[in-house]
Amino acid sequence: MSMDLAVKDLTMAFGGLRALDGVSLSFPAGCITGLIGPNGSGKSTMINAITGMITATSGEVLLGGNSIVTLRSDQIVKQGVARTFQIPKVPPQLTVREVISVPFSFVGRKHALIEGLSDARSIAAYFKLDPVFERRCADLSVTNLRRLEIARAVACGPSVLLLDEAMAGLSHEDAIEVGQVVKQVHQAGVTVVIIEHMMSVISSLCDGVVVLNQGKLLAQGKPRDVLSDPVVREAYLGKGFQL
Ligand SMILES: Nc1ncnc2c1ncn2[C@@H]1O[C@H](COP(=O)(O)OP(=O)(O)O)[C@@H](O)[C@H]1O
Ligand SMILES: [Mg+2]
Repeated sequence: MSMDLAVKDLTMAFGGLRALDGVSLSFPAGCITGLIGPNGSGKSTMINAITGMITATSGEVLLGGNSIVTLRSDQIVKQGVARTFQIPKVPPQLTVREVISVPFSFVGRKHALIEGLSDARSIAAYFKLDPVFERRCADLSVTNLRRLEIARAVACGPSVLLLDEAMAGLSHEDAIEVGQVVKQVHQAGVTVVIIEHMMSVISSLCDGVVVLNQGKLLAQGKPRDVLSDPVVREAYLGKGFQL
């Protein structure tokens, strides 16, 4: 069920700006990989290019060794790649029930990712969204919006889950709770890629880390080694971040 995801020489140019500049790396099957780097380094662009939200200028995206770079985003999610958005993207007029239900009819998944999570209500309960099941998205708290984003992605029954700052704006307690959910999804056999600025989250959750800087791969390896790498620290500290 879990699948290896890789990009080869991936480039995304916006006019003269190369948001991704010939990046090659892989997200190993069954692992949680942290994707980090200063703001503007190309992290979201990578997820957008992988999921077909934007069309890469050149390069390859490989899922289980097969190219998906020419597929549309609706085809890519059916191949098993689901994502969340840095800024939650849910139609404000829809209810939580409706948002979680869409993947069930659209993606047509055949089995529950996590045992027992075979309908919208059980997924909502799993993500502690049952008290707001019939509430419109416009009326949700930030925490519930973040939970809903992940719940919708999980409802797609993915083999690869891409999380773009899924914990941004959450309290420490809520971030820990979301982290536990991510761990459970991973234990269900899903390959996870997580963009996150909180380095404590990266070191506690991730098997490996890749670092982007100015559209290029700066470093990769075990969290302990990467986060103590002077080159990585300089890339962050130069932009005013504390590791
Ligand atoms: N649709 C777009 N059009 C033009 N420039 C973009 C677009 N999306 C991203 N960029 C630029 O690409 C660079 C990388 O952005 P992004 O991938 O969002 O960075 P990150 O997620 O690492 O903060 C930034 O300089 C950003 O302004
Ligand atoms: Mg981003």
